[in-house]
Amino acid sequence: MTMDAIRELFERIAQWADKHSPQTLFARALIIIVVPMLLLQALSAWWFYSQRGDNVTNRLAILLVRDLRLLISLRSDFPDDAHRDWILRRSAQDLLLFVSFRKGIVRPFKEPEYFDIVAREVQGALEADLKKPFFLDNNIGGGQLLIEIQLPDGDVMDVLVPHVRLTFGSSFAYVVAQLGLALVLFGLAIWFMRRELVPIEHLGVAADALGKGRDVPDLAFSGGTREVRNAATAFHTMRIRLRRSIQQRTEMLAGVSHDLRTPLTRMKLSLALLPESPETRELSDDVSDMERMIEGYLAFARGEGDEDPVMTDLSEILEDVVAGARRNSGSVELVWHGDMNVELRPVAMKRCVTNLVSNAQRHGRNVRLEATRGRTSVVITVDDDGPGIPPENYEDVFRPFFRLDPSRNVETGGVGLGLTIARDVARSHGGEVTLARSPLGGLRAIVRIPI
Ligand SMILES: Nc1ncnc2c1ncn2[C@@H]1O[C@H](COP(=O)(O)OP(=O)(O)OP(=O)(O)O)[C@@H](O)[C@H]1O
Ligand SMILES: [Mg+2]
Repeated sequence: MTMDAIRELFERIAQWADKHSPQTLFARALIIIVVPMLLLQALSAWWFYSQRGDNVTNRLAILLVRDLRLLISLRSDFPDDAHRDWILRRSAQDLLLFVSFRKGIVRPFKEPEYFDIVAREVQGALEADLKKPFFLDNNIGGGQLLIEIQLPDGDVMDVLVPHVRLTFGSSFAYVVAQLGLALVLFGLAIWFMRRELVPIEHLGVAADALGKGRDVPDLAFSGGTREVRNAATAFHTMRIRLRRSIQQRTEMLAGVSHDLRTPLTRMKLSLALLPESPETRELSDDVSDMERMIEGYLAFARGEGDEDPVMTDLSEILEDVVAGARRNSGSVELVWHGDMNVELRPVAMKRCVTNLVSNAQRHGRNVRLEATRGRTSVVITVDDDGPGIPPENYEDVFRPFFRLDPSRNVETGGVGLGLTIARDVARSHGGEVTLARSPLGGLRAIVRIPI
C-alpha cells in the first residue's frame, strides 16, 4: 500500500467518525482519551491472564506433582501403619492435599470434560513427571480436583486437590480494582477536560455576540492553554480593529458630507443672485437634491454606533411605528406571534422598521406588519399592495441614493437612503433585510434578526 492510499484510508475513517460521533468537543476529546485507554487495559489484562496466568498455573501443577511424588516415596519407604497415618495427617495439614488409599484399579484415562486450563496443566505435569497410571476428574465440584494414582503395590491413591493450590488467586479482585481505578481516573479526566474547555466556550459566546452586534464580554484568560489564550487575544484585537474601521468609515463620510454643505450653500447664494432662467432653475433643483442627500446621510451617520443593545419589547417599537404611520393615511395592520423581548438597539431598530413602513405607505394603500419569533431569530415582514419592485432590482434598491424613479419626484421616493439604512441596522444586529413579492400584490420586505 502506498502512502497516499493509507492517508486516504485514514481520511475516510476520520470522516466516518466525524459523522457518527457526538458534536461537542468535550465528548470527542473524552472519547479520544478513553477509548485507547480502555483498549490498552483490555489488551494488557488479556495478555496478563493468558501468558502469565498459564505460566503460574504450569508451575503450580509441577509443584503439585512433586509433592505427590514425595508422598508416594514416603509411603513406600515407611510402610508401617503409624507412619502411614502420619503421612495422611501431614499431607492434609501442611500440603493441603487430602489423601486416602484403597485397594483397586484407577479408572481408564479420559480427556477433561470441558476446557479447563488448570486441569489441562495438571494433566500435562502428571503425564510428564509421574510415570504412573492416573485418572483426573475436574468435574467433582466443591472447588476441588480429584486425582487417582495407581501405586505399584496394587493400591490406589485418591487425592483431593483444592483449587487454591493450583491458581494464583481470584481474578475478581483484580477486575474490581481495575474498574474502580478506571472510574476514578475517568472522573478526574472529565473534570480537567471541562476546565480546559470553558475558555473555548466563552470564546464561542463572545464571537456569537460580536456577530449580533452586542456587547462582547472581555476575554481575559490568565490560565488555560496557550492556543486558547492566543485565540482570545486575536479575537480581542480583531474586535477592536473592526470597531475602529467602522467608526473611521462613518466619521470620514460624515466629515466629507459636512464639508460639502459650505460650497453648496455658496452655490445656492450665487444662483439666487443670477437672473432667473430655466437653466438656473434646474441647477438650483440639483443643488437642493444634493443638500437633501447630504442631510439624509448626516442624519444617519449621527445616530450610528453610539447606541448599546438592551433587552427591548419589540412589540412596543412596532406599535410606535404603526401609530406614527396611521397618522399619515391608508390602513396599517399589525400582528405579532410569540415573545417579543429581544436584545437590540431600540432607536436603530425603530428607524429600520419606520423606513420600510414609510416605503410601503408611499407605494401602496394597505400595509401589513407582522412579527414572528422563531427558534433562532425574530422575523419582521412589511407587506404592501403597491406596484412592487422587479426582482432584478432587489439588490439595486439597497444601494445608497438609488431610486427606481430617477425623476426625484417626492411622490415616488425620497433621497434613496431608506433601504440602505434599514439593511445597515439589520446587519449591525447580525441580521439581514431581503425583498420578495408580497401576497398583497406589492413588495414584501423581510427583516431577520438573530436572537
Ligand atoms: N414598497 C415599495 N414598493 C415599490 N417600490 C419601492 C418600495 N420600497 C422602495 N421602493 C423603491 O426602492 C427605492 C429605494 O428605496 P429607499 O427607501 O432606499 O429610498 P427612498 O424611499 O427613495 O428614499 P428615503 O427612504 O431615503 O426617503 C425607492 O426609490 C423606490 O423606487
Ligand atoms: Mg424610503
